[in-house]
Amino acid sequence: MIFAAVLAGGSGKRMHTADMPKQFLPLGERPVIIHTLEKFLTCSRFEKVYVGMHPDWVDYMRDLVQRYVPGFADRICVVPGGSDRNGTIFNIIHSIEETYGQSDEHVIVTHDAVRPFVTIRMIEENIDAVLRCGAVDTVVPAVDTIVVSEDGKVISQIPNRAQMYQGQTPQSFRISLLKELYASLSEEEKEILTDACKICVVRDYPVQLVQGADTNLKITTPGDYKIAQAMVGGKIGD
Ligand code: CTP
Repeated sequence: MIFAAVLAGGSGKRMHTADMPKQFLPLGERPVIIHTLEKFLTCSRFEKVYVGMHPDWVDYMRDLVQRYVPGFADRICVVPGGSDRNGTIFNIIHSIEETYGQSDEHVIVTHDAVRPFVTIRMIEENIDAVLRCGAVDTVVPAVDTIVVSEDGKVISQIPNRAQMYQGQTPQSFRISLLKELYASLSEEEKEILTDACKICVVRDYPVQLVQGADTNLKITTPGDYKIAQAMVGGKIGD
């Protein structure tokens, strides 16, 4: 079975919005996370669309589902997120397996709730690739030269830009594979995980690339939010 996992367990500290996490900010007529959810609900290949939500906001999210996408309420399952992003993914996996059991056939397409401009093409290509290969990342070629500095003061190296990409989401995995690789990591290895694909990379499991887009913006800072508002043609505030 194919499951979507919309990751919304964060509280958006870099956005500096005191009253609510950035995934709930308005974008045009609807909250950011509803735009994102609608993309996944459009794809009928998903058995269920899971939302891993910050524990303080689970009820609020369930109310949003009833308000904005009531016709899809039975296709959406809101569960509490974890203390970090991978924790949210594994909470969703736990919930999937409680309902559907464990199976080597289960795959999960994970996506940041705060990337509302993901396209159906990216989602479909993630599904096709994860069914073939077991692990998938969505990337764009690096536009700027990437500079590595080990001490933050001088350049250590400048890698060949033609081989540099920026990671986006969706990131997709065969669930049994992701669990097995994660279980094999030491506590030190778990501490350096910046995203779920790194679980595979640390264990040399090949991760297939799907083409992302510059427009697949992650809303992280107030500046990103302004760009996102402009992209939906809404009013841009100060
Ligand atoms: N995320 C999650 N569970 C966590 C932390 C983050 O599901 N415990 C999700 C966020 O909700 C977001 C995505 O991972 O959709 C990308 O993370 P980021 O942009 O870093 O979000 P926040 O953690 O909310 O932001 P910040 O780091 O500024 O606090």
